[in-house]
Amino acid sequence: MMNKKSVLVSGGAGYIGSHTAVELIAAGYDVVVADNLSNSDMSGIEGVRAITGVDVPFINVDCCDKQAFAQVFEQYDFDSVIHFAAFKAVGESVADPMKYYCNNLLSFINVIDLMREYGRHNIVFSSSATVYGEAEELPVTEATERKPATSAYGNTKQMCEDILRDATAAYPEIKGIALRYFNPIGAHPSALIGELPRGVPQNLVPYITQTAAGVRECLSIFGDDYPTEDGSCLRDYIDIVDLAKAHVAAINRMVEGKNQCGYEIFNVGTGRAVSVFELVKTFERVNNLKLNYKVAPRRAGDVVAVWADTTLANKELGWRAERSLEQTLQSAWEWEKRVRNIE
Ligand code: NAD
Ligand code: WQD
Repeated sequence: MMNKKSVLVSGGAGYIGSHTAVELIAAGYDVVVADNLSNSDMSGIEGVRAITGVDVPFINVDCCDKQAFAQVFEQYDFDSVIHFAAFKAVGESVADPMKYYCNNLLSFINVIDLMREYGRHNIVFSSSATVYGEAEELPVTEATERKPATSAYGNTKQMCEDILRDATAAYPEIKGIALRYFNPIGAHPSALIGELPRGVPQNLVPYITQTAAGVRECLSIFGDDYPTEDGSCLRDYIDIVDLAKAHVAAINRMVEGKNQCGYEIFNVGTGRAVSVFELVKTFERVNNLKLNYKVAPRRAGDVVAVWADTTLANKELGWRAERSLEQTLQSAWEWEKRVRNIE
């Protein structure tokens, strides 16, 4: 009999996985983390251990190496898996698509195969709002049509969603939930874990915090001539702790047998559209500082606007985003200050 209160978190040393491990433990789950540290280091695991006081087991393994990964299934009796392990840099995936197809698809295929081989039942997959592309209706619901992916990264998210749909249809003992994250930002309120991008940040909030810390000279705002109120793009920025809690809700739902079919999809966002200028100004205000920024040309591949209709997750998962943009942007700055030894 598998342990229903135990969860394997693949990619759990990373940004979203480490925060999710903390919330799973707070909700009474045992957590096992498997990660090959290809885009993280042990500081995330150490942070999880420090916050929770639990000596979370960590296995350094590549999920693409099926034989090695199988050992984790041999040793631990989790009944659920949350699969975060993937590469996520959109631009790099266009330049080197095979790196993304190999890692993101193979690791996911191995998880599902091993779940079947070892009789494990529930899986949550990290999907992305990127599957909606430039949507025709806003906010987007889970029924909004997916658009052909414009990057290999985005394509791996669509392909993994389809793999999960087909696998859960064919093997009814496996239940799956795909969570489509919007833009995850911020850090744990303890500032013991947060986002640690390698090299120059590609995403807005780490670029902002690094600019405020003096690591980057100036933030470029990519475009002020979009057809929006202030001319900058609109996104749905979701607090990382709120996002982590959505995973706990998804696991609870499957463990309690409340899922209505074998495969479900939920948007995980706030339901609120925020412009780049609004985000920058809110960051300045709540942290009481001035940010060095300039308007730059549009970035290739950016959609004008995307934000979530969260009705389904609110109703079915009993989950909603709780932290304000102000709190989240304060937490992002507290984390950056800790990383840079500021103050
Ligand atoms: P992250 O890079 O911080 O975490 C991913 C973790 O997976 C890293 O610790 C990395 O070392 C590990 N990993 C990668 N390939 C692996 C492999 N083959 N075997 C074992 N470990 C492996 O990224 P994140 O922001 O925490 O993202 C987690 C998941 O959420 C990813 O699947 C990502 O595509 C998805 N997602 C992220 C965002 C976002 O904006 N951060 C948005 C939507 C979806
Ligand atoms: C947000 C806004 C930029 C940086 C990406 C992926 C997506 C998902 C989340 C994984 C945009 C603007 C940014 C900067 C800026 N990841 N910006 N200056 O592009 O919405 O989504 O991360 O699934 O797939 O594409 O997030 O943080 O890069 O950009 O003006 O230096 O900030 O143009 O409008 P994005 P982002």
